[in-house]
Amino acid sequence: MASTFLKEYDKLLARYKEMIVLRTAGDIVYWDMETKMPPSGLELRSEQLSLIGLINHKMLVDPKIGRSLDALEKERVLADMNEEQRRNVHLMRKYHDEESKLPDQLVAEMSKQQILSVGAWKRAKAAKDFSQFRDHLLKNVELKEKAANILMEVKGTRTPYDALLDIYEPGMTTERISKVFKGMRDGLMRIMKKVDSSDRPDTSILNRKIPVSAQRRISAVAMRFIGYETSGPKAWGRLDETEHPFSNGYYTDVRITTHYHEDNYKSSLFSVLHEGGHALYEHNLPAEWMFQPIGSAASYGVHESQSRFVENMVGRSPEFLSFILPKLKKAAGKVLADVELEDFVRAVNMAEPSKIRIEADEITYGLHIIARFELERDLFAGRLRVDELPQAWNEKYSRYLGVDVDNDSEGVMQDTHWAGGSFGYFPSYALGNLYGGMFLRKLDRDVPEWRDAVAEGNYAPVGGWLAENVHSRGNLYDPADLIKVVTGEGLNIKPFLDYLKMKVEMVYGS
Ligand code: CO
Repeated sequence: MASTFLKEYDKLLARYKEMIVLRTAGDIVYWDMETKMPPSGLELRSEQLSLIGLINHKMLVDPKIGRSLDALEKERVLADMNEEQRRNVHLMRKYHDEESKLPDQLVAEMSKQQILSVGAWKRAKAAKDFSQFRDHLLKNVELKEKAANILMEVKGTRTPYDALLDIYEPGMTTERISKVFKGMRDGLMRIMKKVDSSDRPDTSILNRKIPVSAQRRISAVAMRFIGYETSGPKAWGRLDETEHPFSNGYYTDVRITTHYHEDNYKSSLFSVLHEGGHALYEHNLPAEWMFQPIGSAASYGVHESQSRFVENMVGRSPEFLSFILPKLKKAAGKVLADVELEDFVRAVNMAEPSKIRIEADEITYGLHIIARFELERDLFAGRLRVDELPQAWNEKYSRYLGVDVDNDSEGVMQDTHWAGGSFGYFPSYALGNLYGGMFLRKLDRDVPEWRDAVAEGNYAPVGGWLAENVHSRGNLYDPADLIKVVTGEGLNIKPFLDYLKMKVEMVYGS
């Protein structure tokens, strides 16, 4: 690359670095709000967060970035760049254009409306009355449609909903997901038919009371197992307690939270593994890519594949459970003394249709997501009206899960996503499961001894494989390409379905 262009490229990266530094400062301000802030600080805090957002927006839409990009995107310049440099330029162009084309007024209106909608959603949910939420949801959808129409132009997608999907899962389309999810839906429903509900595992062993202090010791064991370091001079993480678990951070400082329920110890154990899986991804991104666009996760779906891999594929495996059960018994005192490993494995892996997504097991979870995807897709294609949502929701739950929804609070109003304006987000969760299934199959082939290692408390073969194959590739590829590079094939539902079939056989016999 000619040196003048190299200078332009360095200038571009220097600007990106400033944005990352500001954004990660914002992460800590947010983290503090959730973990430490006294209640009266809320108003000041929201001012602080929105100013950080505004400054970040202004930095990203700066016309100087557009001019740098114009200079770098000349064919002969691009030809001189390596793959990483080209990808950085591509990502900067995408971020800059998308942020620039949305009118400030629309962005402001959306964020104001989302706050109002979330407020209305909370009240309506408490009152079990969709009519109190309806107008706000409608407004959210209308504003999102406006934004999606603009983004469709910038991104060059076929439909407005494709543009929303692209925010979370770059390159993914409605057509592709519809096809994949249809196969997944049929497959999951077939697997659920094999679940013998008369042979229900005794899950009461998971609800025995274990004091929070003991559960904290179990969290420490789980974090040590996956190599999430929270103490010593090399620590790069910490665990705090919040209402809803989350993770946030970047490379050298990635934090997680959990919530302890005395009568549900598995909740904190698996949430620590889940958030730890997210954290390891951020931490293991290539050091030399820090502060560059490629030094980030590939997508929401890939992020979720990493958290679910640790939580489910490793965490709910008989091997990990055989490792952790004695530790649980030790931490819990006499409470779990009589629990047999086989019963524990069956209880943790029990599958049963339910109405609430966040309580769903690994098998039915996908059906919750697919129902939401189909509703969103039809909503943005003009085939479904907001008024018809509750009824359409209940019909899908009856058909796919065989459950009767009694009221809209446990139906269409159970999640905060639509109230917060996040349309197109849900599919990432199920895609994460599918990616995870594909990674698992490849791991089984590459490092078959990983299960024995996990049983002995050794996570290194799994952690090393994920770091080398997924984390080390950062945002060098769109998710569909990343999957192909890692596994050698395109998105495929079979590995995940095979994995679930194996689970059902393990828990319920064949
Ligand atoms: Co997650």
